[in-house]
Amino acid sequence: MSIQFKRSTVVTFLGLALLAGVSVAPLQAKTPAPVAPPQVQYDYDMDIFHPVIAHNGMVATEQHLASAIGLDILKKGGNAVDAAVAIGFALAVALPNAGNLGGGGFMMVHDKDSGQTIALDFREMAPAKASRDMYLDEKGDVVAGRSLYTHLAVGVPGTVAGMEHALKKWGSMPLEQVIQPAIELAENGYIVSNSLAENLAATKESLGKWDTTKAIFFRDGEPLKAGDLLVQKDLAESMRLIAKEGADAFYKGKIADQIVAEMGKHDGLITKEDLANYKVVEREPVKGTYRGYEVVSMPPPSSGGIHVIQMLNMLEPHDLNVLGLNSSKTVTLVAEIMKRAYADRSEYLGDPDFSQVPQKGLTSKAYANSLANTISFDKVTPSKEILPGKPQPYESDQTTHYSVVDKDGNAVAVTYTLNLNFGSGIVAGESGILLNNEMDDFSAKPGVPNAFGLIGGDANAVEPAKRPLSSMTPTLVLKDGKPWLVTGSPGGARIITTVLQTILNSIDFGMNPAEAASTPRFHHQWLPDELRVEKGFSPDTLALLKEKGYDIALKPAMGRTQTIQVRDNVLYGYSDPRNPDGVTIGY
Ligand code: DON
Repeated sequence: MSIQFKRSTVVTFLGLALLAGVSVAPLQAKTPAPVAPPQVQYDYDMDIFHPVIAHNGMVATEQHLASAIGLDILKKGGNAVDAAVAIGFALAVALPNAGNLGGGGFMMVHDKDSGQTIALDFREMAPAKASRDMYLDEKGDVVAGRSLYTHLAVGVPGTVAGMEHALKKWGSMPLEQVIQPAIELAENGYIVSNSLAENLAATKESLGKWDTTKAIFFRDGEPLKAGDLLVQKDLAESMRLIAKEGADAFYKGKIADQIVAEMGKHDGLITKEDLANYKVVEREPVKGTYRGYEVVSMPPPSSGGIHVIQMLNMLEPHDLNVLGLNSSKTVTLVAEIMKRAYADRSEYLGDPDFSQVPQKGLTSKAYANSLANTISFDKVTPSKEILPGKPQPYESDQTTHYSVVDKDGNAVAVTYTLNLNFGSGIVAGESGILLNNEMDDFSAKPGVPNAFGLIGGDANAVEPAKRPLSSMTPTLVLKDGKPWLVTGSPGGARIITTVLQTILNSIDFGMNPAEAASTPRFHHQWLPDELRVEKGFSPDTLALLKEKGYDIALKPAMGRTQTIQVRDNVLYGYSDPRNPDGVTIGY
């Protein structure tokens, strides 16, 4: 097993010599022709951060217990989907603030035999009784917290159906086998880490409202602390039922009864019919090209894939290597591009089963060129000149992403979530299952921001059976038709820009996954009109950006990627250092 750096092949890292003193033409005069990809070469001696290296299989998750479970499945002969499903259940136990059975998400599956990548949508659906104005009071104002911390916040969960679907369709092991390690982990318990303890403490108020939740996550009236043992007997029992009866236990059987009873006690909307009617959808991924690579990502109801490709299209005519990593010129170019993409997101994106999303138009190179033509290096376009809206603060960072590649070259990227930390904070009766607050990803009212400061309109209004718009962006970058990069991240609105920068760091700056993850990130989402930066940007760069007109905000770390890169059949992986619990392992 490989959990630490070993490296055999070494070449030369490029780019650094090019950074200084290069003058660049104004963007308006850009040539639409793509700049050729840099000859990506890696230099052991130049790299400060080094990836985990393996040859037969690799998993990268946000929790070491889940990584170990996934790797064990691979070693026992399971394929990437077997491991991904085992990890999906394991994270529901080991990372209860984001891993889940009571939430939903997306899975990208690359089947090496067919060369096809499928986008599996197991996003939550609005209950049949949901309605457009359900989060508004009599005056038509949004009621604070209703779409986040009440039973009305809960969308019909998709995770259990999604995991079962993936395993039946692409896995090779029985459900009982891949779920067993998670059952044991829930039954026997594990030691609460510092970060889980911090998350529990930070969410004390919303979790503490519900006796069913407190019974699991509190001791003597206080959230569990680092070093305590977290045992989840009810969750183990629910998973035993799922192992025996399949997803029907959740959607039609005892667990469905528990969820519906929970809703009945607190004016929630989810009925047995809603659960029985839940549908997993296989979707065609959204695809683009960037400097000779193929980018294959999650289509609507995620906005992520479309906007990553749209932004890459706008960047393709520019040589970022010449502009320089995180230089003021690069940050200006990318931030202006981010603003334009997020403005489009607010207008055009929603559940494609309910409204048409102009996917082709948004991802066309011609459209990208027309948008990029409005950008200048010298003068920042204020967001209000792009489209109007209202600013809102950022919120928590609790979704999770994991990546798996097996010995045959099958690759899986999963991002799934309860939405905010521990979702709604509500455990459904005796099921041990935390329920999501994904309904907040709908636009409660046009122009009013959600927890991530994102605004939307009709395309993302609440409707029965509709899926809320997501930013989750599990992504594969292919080279010569084979997975070259498998990545994704949590981070709400910041997921899309985190994935973008991971791709740019890997392709344009030739970084290994460890370097790519460890580079400081920035983010602009159009509204609020603020350039958000992590620590690590030089004061000189920030001064130049300020001069151009940016309102700069130093904010907490953004995103937590779990990335695996495949080069010459060798696997290089890394768990983002922004989460100390994340671990990449391979063999
Ligand atoms: O689907 C979405 O875009 C959000 N519900 C994701 C939430 C998230 O990433 C929370 N923070 N990391």
